Amino acid sequence: MNAFTYRNGILHAEGVALPAIAEQVGTPFYCYSTEALVANYRAYAGAFEGQDAGVCFALKSNSNLAVVRTFAALGAGADVVSEGEFKRALAAGIPADRIVFSGVGKTRQEMRTALEAGIYQLNVESIPELEALSEVATSMGVRAPIAIRVNPDVDAKTHAKIATGKKENKFGIDWDHAREVYGKAAALPGIDPVGIAVHIGSQLTDLAPFRAAFERVVELLHALREDGIDIRRLDLGGGIGIRYRDETPPDLHEYAGMVRSITGNLGCHVTLEPGRALVGNAGILVSRVIYVKKGLHRRFLIVDAAMNDLIRPSLYDAYHAILPVAEPAPGAKTSPIDVVGPVCESGDTFALQRPLPPLASDDLIAFCSAGAYGAVMASSYNTRPLAPEVLVNGTDFAVIRPRPTVEEMLAAERMPAWLKG
Ligand code: LLP
Repeated sequence: MNAFTYRNGILHAEGVALPAIAEQVGTPFYCYSTEALVANYRAYAGAFEGQDAGVCFALKSNSNLAVVRTFAALGAGADVVSEGEFKRALAAGIPADRIVFSGVGKTRQEMRTALEAGIYQLNVESIPELEALSEVATSMGVRAPIAIRVNPDVDAKTHAKIATGKKENKFGIDWDHAREVYGKAAALPGIDPVGIAVHIGSQLTDLAPFRAAFERVVELLHALREDGIDIRRLDLGGGIGIRYRDETPPDLHEYAGMVRSITGNLGCHVTLEPGRALVGNAGILVSRVIYVKKGLHRRFLIVDAAMNDLIRPSLYDAYHAILPVAEPAPGAKTSPIDVVGPVCESGDTFALQRPLPPLASDDLIAFCSAGAYGAVMASSYNTRPLAPEVLVNGTDFAVIRPRPTVEEMLAAERMPAWLKG
């Protein structure tokens, strides 16, 4: 579904005109659509209806409490990668027994917090982590329910920085060692090896790598059952890719059908950890044009959002569609322009030679598909306050994270005694 459409020549989020939000909160700002969040979640969970499967929203993609609560109200679980995200998930109303804790570097403190709350599962990625977890659990008089994340050595065919399932990546236990490590896990007093986890990368637009990885997991499951290890859960990692430009992401029902055909008769509960697929197209970043600069060789659209607000184009050469908030006249001529932010780095570029209709100072534009890995990856580089987040619901909207003032940012820092006065 697309919640961001032109109505009477003005780009709206559901029933709210974006200039109305800009007037109240200033620019740049992130804007999310409740309708899109709900539709995306329902479509995802719905595709798996009838399977013993649950959706654990990957908080790393968008961890705003209001967004997480929107999913919590629909029955979602959570996939978290830090104590901070774990506490967010709980604060948003997701019960601990629906939370999976992933990540290669969990500290003992994080393990303790998760076990105390009664977490559903920790996904372990190394032998030292397994040993540390066993010690922590034993000291608390419990056994930690775990899955071991295996590295199936499958090429996810996505951007190198977000591919995780090849043997040279830091993630998971090497495929060839997996059986042996499960043996070790089963012998540890604080560990209850209940599942197998796999995640080969993000923004996958082809089902084949998923299928290859899942088939390897099932192969391992049979081997482990032969070894007497009672595997009853499978965690199949992140979700399917989304359309940013002209990608053709896999059909959700085809994906769910593939999961059913591979895992359906194993007697396992399946966990899915989509992030991007639930929030990516449910959010935009709205920005105002500061200047149109005409150089000798290029034209630049200098906008008030920058790489600190949305880093994906700088970091991954990611494409985000750009829409003028005022609908261009039918047949309006476009010409190529570089869309850049005010940060003092050439990398602060959103788009090179993007064909756009004429735009002028003070015009508003929207970066599309910015709901995932947008606000969560923002920083205050150049002492630029974090862009606020706004959630729309029908004709209503609310600021769900305000923009800090520069004074608040400065007040958060401390002067050492020798520099005071
Ligand atoms: N589960 C695990 C273990 C993950 O590492 C990830 C993402 C997910 C689930 C969620 O994946 P998704 O459904 O969103 O594809 N910042 C990058 C994406 C990093 C993804 C990291 N892991 C970007 O902006 O493209």
